[in-house]
Amino acid sequence: MVAFIYFTAILFTVTASDIYDVTKFGADHTGSKPCTEAIQRAINEAARNYGGIVYFPHGQYLSGAVELKSNITLDFADKVVLRFLDDPKEYPPLEETIPNGNKITLPFTPLIRAFGHSNITIRGNAMLDGHGETWWARMPPPSTRPVFLQIFWVRNLLLEDITVKSSPMYNVNLKNCDDVVIKRIKIRNPANYVDPGPNTDGININSCKRVHITGVNISTGDDCIALDSNIERNTRIPTVDVLIENSHMYAGHGGVSIGSVTAGGLRNVTVRNCIFNGTNRGLFIKSRRGRGGLVEDISYHDITMVDLRKEGIAIATIYNGSDAGLHNRDFHWEPVNERTPFIRNIEFKNIQGDSVLNPIFIVGLPESSIKNITFANVQIKSKFDIFLNNTKNIVINGNVH
Ligand SMILES: *[C@@H]1O[C@H](CO)[C@@H](O)[C@H](O)[C@H]1NC(C)=O
Ligand SMILES: *[C@@H]1O[C@H](CO)[C@@H](O)[C@H](O)[C@H]1NC(C)=O
Ligand SMILES: *[C@@H]1O[C@H](CO)[C@@H](O)[C@H](O)[C@H]1NC(C)=O
Ligand SMILES: *[C@@H]1O[C@H](CO)[C@@H](O)[C@H](O)[C@H]1NC(C)=O
Ligand SMILES: *[C@@H]1O[C@H](CO)[C@@H](O)[C@H](O)[C@H]1NC(C)=O
Ligand SMILES: *[C@@H]1O[C@H](CO)[C@@H](O)[C@H](O)[C@H]1NC(C)=O
Ligand SMILES: *[C@@H]1O[C@H](CO)[C@@H](O)[C@H](O)[C@H]1NC(C)=O
Ligand SMILES: *[C@@H]1O[C@H](CO)[C@@H](O)[C@H](O)[C@H]1NC(C)=O
Repeated sequence: MVAFIYFTAILFTVTASDIYDVTKFGADHTGSKPCTEAIQRAINEAARNYGGIVYFPHGQYLSGAVELKSNITLDFADKVVLRFLDDPKEYPPLEETIPNGNKITLPFTPLIRAFGHSNITIRGNAMLDGHGETWWARMPPPSTRPVFLQIFWVRNLLLEDITVKSSPMYNVNLKNCDDVVIKRIKIRNPANYVDPGPNTDGININSCKRVHITGVNISTGDDCIALDSNIERNTRIPTVDVLIENSHMYAGHGGVSIGSVTAGGLRNVTVRNCIFNGTNRGLFIKSRRGRGGLVEDISYHDITMVDLRKEGIAIATIYNGSDAGLHNRDFHWEPVNERTPFIRNIEFKNIQGDSVLNPIFIVGLPESSIKNITFANVQIKSKFDIFLNNTKNIVINGNVH
């Protein structure tokens, strides 16, 4: 028995560090020939050997959709450029039953995907270019387009140092993932200040646990970071234990947004030491009747938000997907039921900046007030006033409202 354990340990230390150089599998490093199959062959060979490092040496590469598997690291040499083909035939509709029995159905195969595998890393100072321009023109909003990095049901994920540029739709989309670290990645897409935009959320996290995002730098055409939570096979899967810090957001609909998909609930989220420079709203928590779910124990502190184009901090359970919906005052009472969203116990501390619309805007539902929201040392300049409706126990810089 002892000998057996010793043997497997040795086996893994050898195989896990094995390097699978994509050029050895036939990938063209000048970027002139597509090398989708060569990249996938390298990944599959590494996976067959219980995992390894799939390495892209210095150069340029052109690819279609690739699939990551367990124990795979995509490792890019400095300044590698990986461009994705923009022919829709490369990204057909996808329907697949993954190792844990869940079924995944998508209108397009993502550019890079991992479904139901674990221990995945993508790292290196490389540029991943999704050729979004062609997609946005071909399928303008509100069309659906392929997601760049779509990662579902993965445990242990690390994204480090990569730049993701021109995504057809969401840049990074994680669903039902646990133990995620996203470090120093950069996301660049054209600004888009109106809805519906091209839907290029920077990092979109849905029903994930233990997520640490640090040092990211995002400028995009939708939310820079969005946190959601969903219902899957009648089970509410919450998003919990999230830390977002030391990050810098430029263009985007929200610097960090929560919701409006809140059905699974979200709790224990901290956002700290961030700069938002030119987003529409700074911090936005949104939901509506029909979504359900509880959002609680969220803490935002040490955030500078300058040059915002709309509200500084907005919390609303009446958000119907449009700004007009936020200003609809015609809300009838409804009995509380599983459709009702709840928001409570949120703290904002040491927040400075300026906004064009209300510095603080909170609107709940008649049957579900937004409760226990504390603002301490929050200074947001605006020519508008604070606006509150259907709220309880709101304390702003020491004053109870
Ligand atoms: C991943 O690596 C672990 C060792 O760390 C090994 O036990 C496991 O079998 C590998 N998984 C796959 C799918 O090869
Ligand atoms: C992920 O890595 C852990 C630790 O090395 C290992 O125990 C587990 O089997 C791996 N998961 C998969 C699906 O290979
Ligand atoms: C909240 O999440 C953080 C990670 O951001 C974690 O360290 C902490 O233990 C969590 N707190 C609770 C009460 O679970
Ligand atoms: C983000 O990128 C901009 C340049 O595009 C740079 O000026 C800024 O320092 C970066 N911020 C961080 C936190 O990396
Ligand atoms: C915001 O960005 C502008 C340039 O785009 C820069 O001049 C300014 O210093 C930035 N502000 C902060 C607080 O980072
Ligand atoms: C949202 O509410 C506004 C104002 O009542 C309305 O004009 C708009 O059509 C609604 N949008 C949706 C998607 O229901
Ligand atoms: C109000 O929210 C804070 C977190 O912001 C929490 O610590 C406190 O217990 C809450 N108070 C009540 C009465 O729930
Ligand atoms: C507050 O909301 C109620 C419905 O819950 C509505 O009747 C009232 O007009 C709103 N007040 C303002 C000032 O918008």
